[in-house]
Amino acid sequence: MDTLIAGQIVTYQGDPFDIPAEEAVQVQSDGAILVRDGKVAAIGERDQMRSRHPDATFHDHGRALVVPGFVDAHAHYPQTAIIASWGKRLIDWLNTYTFPEEAKFGDPAYAEAIANTYLDLLLASGTTTVTSFCTIHPVSVDALFEAAERRGMRIVAGKTCMDRDTTPENLRDTAQSAYDDSKALINRWHGKGRATYAITPRFSPTSTPEQLDALGRLWAENPTCLMQTHLSEQTDEIEWVKSLYPTARDYLDTYEQFGLVREGALFGHAIHLEPREISRLRESDCSLIHCPTSNTFIGSGLFDMAARKSEALRVGLATDTGGGSSFSMLRTMAAAYEVGQLSGAALHPAQLLWLATRGSAHAMHMDDKIGTIEVGMEADLTVINLASTPAIAQRANRAESVWEEVFPTIMMGDDRAIDATYVMGARVGA
Ligand code: GUN
Ligand code: ZN
Repeated sequence: MDTLIAGQIVTYQGDPFDIPAEEAVQVQSDGAILVRDGKVAAIGERDQMRSRHPDATFHDHGRALVVPGFVDAHAHYPQTAIIASWGKRLIDWLNTYTFPEEAKFGDPAYAEAIANTYLDLLLASGTTTVTSFCTIHPVSVDALFEAAERRGMRIVAGKTCMDRDTTPENLRDTAQSAYDDSKALINRWHGKGRATYAITPRFSPTSTPEQLDALGRLWAENPTCLMQTHLSEQTDEIEWVKSLYPTARDYLDTYEQFGLVREGALFGHAIHLEPREISRLRESDCSLIHCPTSNTFIGSGLFDMAARKSEALRVGLATDTGGGSSFSMLRTMAAAYEVGQLSGAALHPAQLLWLATRGSAHAMHMDDKIGTIEVGMEADLTVINLASTPAIAQRANRAESVWEEVFPTIMMGDDRAIDATYVMGARVGA
């Protein structure tokens, strides 16, 4: 059964940080996408496509923008219920809010309930793919992959590993159990349907060198997995890492020593980097994940997007919920714009949209499957109403170009702007 989805279709011709943004990101008004077997089969002009495919189910979204489903490249689904917790910086925030909540995920019923709530919030916000941390409990990983499987979503997840006495005892595994549990989860989930496993040491301060070494070995044995962790988020954290790993050259070296710095490594935050770290990250083709709502909310600092992109690093965009203050990638793009302004670079709306879709997919090594509307790609699509509130509508009304019309929704939009979300061409949620 064919499906036709019509609207203003956004397509990519290149990286808007390399070539002029409006050349790289094009908007075809009166366009339509033909979906067959969950994939994009053709893209064309609406009326022509209708007459060529008269039997297809037709979804007409008028002047709404049809974009690739948003890709959130770093999040913590177990923190859903503690989002927007007041008044702490990173280490105190982890100890006060995060760890007590994460301790609840040994209960499979609780993990399942939060996983369902979380993925429904994502779909309502137009996010079709996420890379998420879980907790130390294997059942927390099963719960998320099962919830994603029920919704047909392509997601990346992994058991968070932490064995160091810097964390509460009830949230500690060991080097061996982290290896064994992660290995069993890889065998159960990696490559099953749309699931991808990410080996997940939380960050160096919560792992012993023995655990990082075990996870480096596990990754070498399972090289098609991704690896996710945190890097240089706050200056206090960097000092802490130096005290825990006194012989390391820098924060990145605590991962590098154990084989955790290579293609497929996703480093959340990566704000306060030293020149050697930047060179190594580039030479190793690692991915940096920008989490702007989190970096302002927890007070971490300003990620220098323009510099990192000019160094040809892979950069994704992410909410980092519940350190981030929103599940919405629209809100996250707005924060990326604001952080860009504070760093001296005004990001073009086309660059923001590209980062939230293709940029994140590229950072996750999935840009051959998702993140772009192109023939052969999986049909995960988000439909954005460009006049979703009176405040946005009155501004968009004045617009003299499509990007001037889109920008108010990026800056002021939220889940109310999401008219529809499609997963593999099937309409879900919203
Ligand atoms: N660093 C280690 N764990 C976390 C976490 O859960 N959230 C954030 N923002 N940073 C971290
Ligand atoms: Zn994080």
